[in-house]
This record gives sequence, C-alpha cells and structure tokens, in this order.
Amino acid sequence: MPMCGIVGYVGAGSPSDRPQGVVMGGLERLEYRGYDSAGIAIVTPDETRLAVAKKAGKLVNLAKEIAERPLPVGTAAIGHTRWATHGSPTDANAHPHLAAGGRIAIIHNGIIENYAALRDELRGKGVEFVSETDTEVAGHLLADEVDSGKPLAEAMRAVARRLEGAFTLLAVDAREPHVVVGTRRNSPLVVGLGENENFLGSDVVAFIEHTRTALELGQDEVVEITPEAVVVTDLDGSPVERAPYEVTWDASAAQKGGFDTFMEKEIHEGPTAVADTLRGRMDANGRLQLDEGIVAPEVLATIDKIIVIACGTASYAGLVAKYAIEHWCRIPVEVEYSHEFRYRDPVVGPRTLVVAISQSGETMDTIMAMRHAQQQGAPVVAIVNVQGSTIAREADAVLYTRAGPEIAVASTKALLAQITAAYLLGIYLADLRGNKFPDEIAALLRELDAMPAKVQLVLDTSEPVRELARELADTKIVLFLGRHVGYPVALEGALKLKELAYIHAEGFAAGELKHGPIALVEEGVPIIIVLPSPRGRESLHAKVVSNIQEVRARGARTIVIAEEGDEQAAQYASHVFYVPEAPTLMMPLLTAVPMHVFAHELATVQGRDVDQPRNLAKSVTVE
Ligand code: M6R
Repeated sequence: MPMCGIVGYVGAGSPSDRPQGVVMGGLERLEYRGYDSAGIAIVTPDETRLAVAKKAGKLVNLAKEIAERPLPVGTAAIGHTRWATHGSPTDANAHPHLAAGGRIAIIHNGIIENYAALRDELRGKGVEFVSETDTEVAGHLLADEVDSGKPLAEAMRAVARRLEGAFTLLAVDAREPHVVVGTRRNSPLVVGLGENENFLGSDVVAFIEHTRTALELGQDEVVEITPEAVVVTDLDGSPVERAPYEVTWDASAAQKGGFDTFMEKEIHEGPTAVADTLRGRMDANGRLQLDEGIVAPEVLATIDKIIVIACGTASYAGLVAKYAIEHWCRIPVEVEYSHEFRYRDPVVGPRTLVVAISQSGETMDTIMAMRHAQQQGAPVVAIVNVQGSTIAREADAVLYTRAGPEIAVASTKALLAQITAAYLLGIYLADLRGNKFPDEIAALLRELDAMPAKVQLVLDTSEPVRELARELADTKIVLFLGRHVGYPVALEGALKLKELAYIHAEGFAAGELKHGPIALVEEGVPIIIVLPSPRGRESLHAKVVSNIQEVRARGARTIVIAEEGDEQAAQYASHVFYVPEAPTLMMPLLTAVPMHVFAHELATVQGRDVDQPRNLAKSVTVE
C-alpha cells in the first residue's frame, strides 16, 4: 500500500526512447515521495506485451538495471517510485503490476481499503497474485473490464467505482499504444499539457521540464491522455471541464542549482521564500488578499477561537504563530497535530477558525482533520505550498506560501514561509477585528519586510555552525531548549537532527527542564539553547540564562543562539551563534536557520543521505 510518486507520458510519432526518458526524468524528481523501489512500463509496438523493469531500492538501481538490459522504444510509458507501508520493498512488490498476461500495467499511490475482499473474489475466479500489494487487485479488475470489451478509460471508471480508500492509479494497455489513463480519490494527480504529447504526475515537478501548463484532476475523475487530447470525465463517464493553469516556477527550481543537496539549496532559498510569501499580499486598503476562496470578513470578525492543525515541522510553524496571533488578536489559538485532533472529539463550530498548515497539501492526517472540522461547520483557511493540492482545493480559502518546490524530505524554507504566511493571517485578523491601529499594523508589516535580508545575514555567517556540527559528528545525543517562540524552534532543531542524522535529539521548553529533562544532562552533552532577546521581556531572557547556567553546572556543552549584542550569552556558553537583532516574535525566522544548517552538516559528515533519510517520504499521504 504505497504512497508514492507517479508519472505517465504519451507522445505522437513513431516509437522512440522519449517515453522512457520523460518517465525516468520524472521519477528522479518525484523520488522525494518515496524511494523503496522504482519501476517503469513502456508501451512498445508489440501489442501483446509491455516492456517492464522494476527494482527494489532507490531509482539508481532501476537505472542500473535498464543500463544493463535496455528497454525498447515505445509510444507511452508509466513509472512509479514507492514508499512501502504494506508489503516489503522487494522487486515483486515494486510497481508497475501486470495483468492480462503482461498486456496491462498499473501503478498506484494510496490504499485500497477493500482490497482483501476484492482479492478473494478474484482468487475465486482463478487469478494468481504475485505480490503482497493491494495494487495488484486493481490491475486484475482492470483486465477483467478490458476483456469484457471496454476501452481502457471506461474500464478504469468501472474499477474506480468498485474501490474504497485512497488512490491515484495510472494504467496502460499494449493494445491502446497511444493512451494512458488515470484516476484519483484522496490522492493527487496533475496533468501536464504539451504539444503532441501529454503528461501525468503526482506533482508538476514530474513534467515541469517539458511543460508549465497543467490542470488538476478532481476527486473521482478519470483522465485519458493521448498525444493530441486530454479527456476528463467523472466516474459515470460524463465530461468534466477543467481549466488549465500556468505553473509560476520553472524546471531550474526543481534542480540542485550547484548545491550538493536539495536541502542545502532549499536552506539558502529561505530569504526568497519569505520575501515571495510577503510580496503583493495587501490590497490598496491594506487588507490581506487570500489566494483562493474566501472566508467572509464578517465570519472572521466573530470567530472566538483558532485551531491550527498540522504535522511535523508545519505544526511548529503553527506553534510559533500561536504566540504571535494570541498577542496581536487576543483570540485563543490551539495548535494540534492533525492526527490527534480528529480523534479527540474537539470542540469546533462555526465560530472556530481552523488553519491547516501543510507544505505538500497532501498530508492525509491534515486532510482528514480538515474535513472533520468542516463537517462541524468550521471555516478552514489553508496555508499550503503546493498549488492545487488536496488541502488547497478543499479548504474554504487558501494563503499560499510561495517557497517554490521543496524536494528534500526535511522541510526548511517551507517552515520560514509558513511562519510568514501565518503571521500575515494574524496581522489581517488584528486589523479586521480592530485589535491594532493602522500604524501598528503598518509597523508589523515593515518588521516582516525586513526579515528576508536578516535571514540572508544568518546564512552568510553560518560557517561556524557548520564547523561545530563537524566537531560534534560522533555525538549520540543533542538536547534543545527554548522558551516562548524559541520553544517550537527547539522542537524543530531536534526533529531535524533525528530525521537526518538518526541520533537521539529532544527539544524541551526551557522552563520544563527542572521538571524532568535535566536528569539527561551529564558531562559533555551538547545542548543547543535558543536565548530570547534581552531587549524583549526581561524576565524571559533572565530565566533562560539561568537555565544555561544550570545545565552548564552539570557539565553540559552549552551552544547558545543569541541576538547580536547580547553580551551575557557569551559568559555562560561554550559556543555562541549570533543572529541579527529582530523583534521577539520575528526571531524564529532567524533562529530556525542555524538549526537547519547544523542538522544538514552533521548528517552530511556522518555520510547520511540528507535529501532522502531512511524510512521517510516527503508527503505522508497515508494516515
Ligand atoms: O507536507 P506537510 O507540511 O503537511 O508535511 C508535514 C510533515 O510531514 C513534515 O513537516 C515533516 O515533519 C518534515 N519531514 C520535517 O522536516
């Protein structure tokens, strides 16, 4: 039951190696979605069989296999990169899966929940299964429908009607050499429109090198692409009109651009991500422009609670925003992991504004939480990076983070853009609800506008952070402390280190230290501490300085991230990294950056695969 990357291609003219080239290139860019196995099926002039190659492990294994045993030329192809949940990452479980004696190939992202019943039914008809996946069921069902005389697209509609769960499926049939069909439910599928060729992908990065004109497939729709046409229908076969849109970034945004890893490149794109997210957001009256949809100002003026739902790093952006929005708007803000929210029977209603934060817009936990909130009548504003993703489509209104494609599994620039977007929302609410005077709103926006240059300064002076990471390459544990908005930054620092370097890293609220975590401190344990500005609330700075002294007295190696000019920091720290002066609430945009740089460097010296850490995938599209 994979949650995976999917790509499809069909082109005009004689069979050539273009289908293979396009699909392998697309898989390379989609590999961030999963890298347990990869496979490709090519539609060749032989109408009885497809040419298929698939291999467990990263895409490089498939590329090697193809180099050793070249695939024939063709007219169309589909390819898949897998993140395994059920069924181990073996060659047999790799997609594509074949049916009709090798004439039909199918690839899948998602979970077919009723697959066991369907498999039993098919076994009853004598079908033999060769993998442990749920996908194979869809392949055999499709073969049944095609054998009963239906063209591939009609057969796909019939199959989709029988499936329960979440899926994107693509299929080809050797007897229809210029057709690829796809369908989706609760899982993404985007169509790329070319000249005499068309594309399908889980994400536009799959085909951005070839076309920037795309259209999204809606829920429970089927698409048939041929070289000349794209036909979209619902599951009953009625035509559906879908308007194409132009992707605003180009292929270079999805390449490493001279950096060794995507993550490094994306860390360096932080200033641009913040600047782009801020650009042109306010209308002539200084009111925030949402990108899509609307939550009526009358509704926003009367909400009495905000709940942020998100996972992982996106949830830390929400936690940072809580401090700011409560301070600016005097509305209680709860931040909850999406997966916890839905199952605790939360108190949500029409006067609760739910803010869903997600880079991918495809995180299933957040999708399900959002739907739950909507069922309770709550308006949902989504802060999302990927245009046209499920969360963006289903939310009542969308504020896009304009971070550009984030390919590395570890989220970096998206975090900065998410904080920025959530702050814009908070400033808008403060204005709308009259919590701030226009000059105060203008001052906040000016403070935000100054941040990209400051983030750049942090990056420009980050070499000592890298040096320290190299020095600590053998450490088995790192603790992180922060208070107020520094607390989510500490959580972020720990998550990044776990995720990339696979070492024990924990983030704590500094005030919690003496309630337990201080017992972890012993001689030489590195502790990274986010020190609040001494220009902020005096007591906050003093309390964290005391924490630094407490852990230092117990032998910890204290690594402090402090504001430029904070002389006290150096007195108690083994190492200090300074970030530029900024208002307290803006600080996370700066202090998160050394966390990212540190984790990247430490994982690199340990020889880890920084862009594709083990067991993870970029978009977590299963619950
Ligand atoms: O796409 P999303 O922002 O919804 O993803 C949420 C988390 O899965 C994600 O932030 C994850 O924690 C990152 N790998 C952390 O670097």
